[in-house]
Amino acid sequence: MSSSKTPSSTLSAPALKPLKLNSSGLGQSTKPSSPKLSTPKLSFSLGGDSQNTAKSDTTKTFAKPQFTKPKLAALSLGESTANVIKKPAPWSPSTTALILVKREVETHDSMSFTFAAADETLFDFKPGQFVTLAVKIDNKTHYRAYSISSVPQQKQLRLTIKRVPDGLVSNWLADNLNIGDSLSALNIAGQFNSSDCKHKPKLLLISAGCGITPVMSIAKTLLTHDSDTDIEFLHCARDKDNVIFHDEMKTLLAQYRNFNVQLLLENSDGFASFSADENTDSSALSHQTGMVSSDVIQQLYPDLKERTIFLCGPVGFMKAVENIAQESDFDMANFFQESFTPAANNEHQDQISSDASTASVMLHVPDFSVEKEVVQGSSLLEVLENNGVPIIGACRAGVCGSCKCKVTKGSVKSTSTETLTAEEIAQGYVLACSSTVEEDLAVALS
Ligand code: FES
Repeated sequence: MSSSKTPSSTLSAPALKPLKLNSSGLGQSTKPSSPKLSTPKLSFSLGGDSQNTAKSDTTKTFAKPQFTKPKLAALSLGESTANVIKKPAPWSPSTTALILVKREVETHDSMSFTFAAADETLFDFKPGQFVTLAVKIDNKTHYRAYSISSVPQQKQLRLTIKRVPDGLVSNWLADNLNIGDSLSALNIAGQFNSSDCKHKPKLLLISAGCGITPVMSIAKTLLTHDSDTDIEFLHCARDKDNVIFHDEMKTLLAQYRNFNVQLLLENSDGFASFSADENTDSSALSHQTGMVSSDVIQQLYPDLKERTIFLCGPVGFMKAVENIAQESDFDMANFFQESFTPAANNEHQDQISSDASTASVMLHVPDFSVEKEVVQGSSLLEVLENNGVPIIGACRAGVCGSCKCKVTKGSVKSTSTETLTAEEIAQGYVLACSSTVEEDLAVALS
């Protein structure tokens, strides 16, 4: 899903240009001087130079909002039921058609699609999860997993999709899906979510490229429902034209005192004028120039060890951040990550390709009468698809579990077993997208 240039942790510290931009592009505190009505009342003080983006000088004190329980009207059994509001049915992805109600251009190569259901279903999911879409192109159905960028329990569901060079489904959606069109979804899944991943009251969300999608859902959900969570958000992009959700982050920044955003741009030329052109107010985003490195992380987040990290982006970027965390003695029990890099750009897919040799082995899929000679080292998912086996490869990156199948004879080499239980692995289940055919093989889909 994301394919931006891969930063590296081995790079030296960038030339930092800490700036807090106001509407004129000049340095100011990024926080407004008075609290917004919809947020908890806070006392907030900045120490030192307000242009310094390092958080070591920043002190925040959060006062819990005082809630008054509304008085409930007593109901008696004999009351008329004429005004009883019918609850929408719970979301069942496989039986609820998604109808496109809005298309929004986010960047030159990414777009948000907002869907609704005909019966006003409330879309229920865990923030950070993805949905598998079934997309019919030229009479063939393709399955792809896309992270959800909206908040759960709303009547609309938003997916933000980035074009992929030579990609089929993402590009087709961007070019062909119009308002009123409907799509089928298969399921929702994903262990990378803020409901199941137990986290501290302080978070550091880190994303790059289209990896911002699930992270934005996590941020918005926590800000909406848990006003006590202190959220720092670091988003990395190539340049100003590749910042997804720029305006949305500005809105959140202005609205919530317990939310702070920092952009890290490889090239920030023109960023100030970009913000001014957008009629920004005092909530304009703070940014630095450079790539992710240990120095940047230490400077921005001196309280790193007090936080839980949620990370999503291209594989190389995530590896760099993981290395930084480990080198900083970060407790990796508080480190959660997910990559949805497309298969074509995926490190372990490259590894699978490089394993291909000219020797051949036999592939048997008795349920579908397949008995075929295939190249040893081939991707199991690809050889199954190419031979007409109706296997679903939604993420093609070893994280969604849709390509689970059972090896009943022979063995494969696997790079991911992420969604499989120990019991399933012992029974011979593998993820086809993350497995190569190494010897004569018999496979079943269930
Ligand atoms: S296609 Fe998602 S795990 Fe294989």
